[in-house]
Amino acid sequence: MPIPAAPTAPPSQAALLDLFPPGTAIGDEGALVIGGCPVTDLAERFGTPALIIDEAAVRARARRYADGLAARWANSRVAFASKAFPCTAVYRLLAEEGLSIDVAGGGELALALAGGVDPARIVVHGNAKTDAELRMAVEAGVGLIVVDNFDDIDRLERLVTKEQPVLVRVTPGIRPDTHAAVATGQEGSKFGLGPAEARRAVARLRGSSRLRLDGVHVHIGSQILDTEPFARAVEAVAGLGTFAVYDLGGGLGARYTYDDHPPSVEEYLDALVGAARRVLPPEAQIIVEPGRSMVAEAGVTLYRVATVKPGEPPFVAVDGGMADNLEVALYGQRFEATVATRVGGGDPCHLVGRHCESGDTLSAGVPLRAPRPGDLIAVPVTGAYCYSLGNNYNGALRPPVVFCRDGEAREVVRRETYGDLLRRDVT
Ligand SMILES: Cc1ncc(COP(=O)(O)O)c(C=O)c1O
Repeated sequence: MPIPAAPTAPPSQAALLDLFPPGTAIGDEGALVIGGCPVTDLAERFGTPALIIDEAAVRARARRYADGLAARWANSRVAFASKAFPCTAVYRLLAEEGLSIDVAGGGELALALAGGVDPARIVVHGNAKTDAELRMAVEAGVGLIVVDNFDDIDRLERLVTKEQPVLVRVTPGIRPDTHAAVATGQEGSKFGLGPAEARRAVARLRGSSRLRLDGVHVHIGSQILDTEPFARAVEAVAGLGTFAVYDLGGGLGARYTYDDHPPSVEEYLDALVGAARRVLPPEAQIIVEPGRSMVAEAGVTLYRVATVKPGEPPFVAVDGGMADNLEVALYGQRFEATVATRVGGGDPCHLVGRHCESGDTLSAGVPLRAPRPGDLIAVPVTGAYCYSLGNNYNGALRPPVVFCRDGEAREVVRRETYGDLLRRDVT
């Protein structure tokens, strides 16, 4: 796995703080303060590793998306792609902010319903939906089911008891510049139907008495740092005909490291809606489905250093790793980090986890200031896909999720216990 290069110079405190949730500060004792909560207090109260979420940052981002899209295209909605952070507290929070929710399969649907999401505001995805999942979606009364293949149509026609609104997912033949594992819009993708097949699906659904074709859906991939492919995707779906709904997917990238310069939400919406104004019917509804860019920068993972092993550079090993952050091993995603009580500066270190793989690296060559056992380490931009890809490798206990807001911290998911590891055993 290629390990992305580290910055050559240690970052300034300001550069580092820029990667943390807006408003993150350095307190009197030199420790990070997130959502008004000193990280030293959070670590003492909730232990480490812990996933800290700045609640105000998530709410602000949700409003920025919803207001930004509505200001540009009135008949529109934002559906949070919940695979980025499928936890009931997050569903509840974003439903409170008025967002719709995108779920991929029965598990996320169950979580969304448990989080109090109105089924009419749920969009169901999946390239391999089972009968049971489709039945669950239909019985829950979800607003939209995105048809990915002809078997979805066959199954739904058998299962529905009343007219079900659907969209057809189109693979537009667009390959954005992102990691292959998260590119989905290219020819040969396992997701959706190419334009010719999508037209066949549209024709079939237009003749269906049980399914109501509302429109088309496109999603070209994730961690996309350029607006141009999004605009091209809008043009591609426009070519399929006139519909009531165009779901334009998600995919806007997050800023993980100093050299990432993702478009702002506003630049992204300008590009998307600019293309929509050119090629989509003005009365149509537009849906966008941001996941990563909704929650990534609101999250910070706190770890404690277990050991520092001399070397060139030294290994700084913490009490978490690829069980709570699989993005590095899966996609080679670069993360930055700091000693949470001595922010910025320092010398290059290999920040590694506690798991039995050399690929269990959280950040290669990251500057850390005088790290020693017992120190707290903060890794920013862990709000997206870290919780969802969490696992129990080496019997790791999945960390708690802690929401911080105005100096108040509340645990919304507790840490797993060894009892949890045994819970599914059938004896
Ligand atoms: C259908 C669909 N919509 C939206 C998203 C969200 O993408 P992102 O988290 O990059 O915004 C995904 C992610 O894979 C997806 O598959």
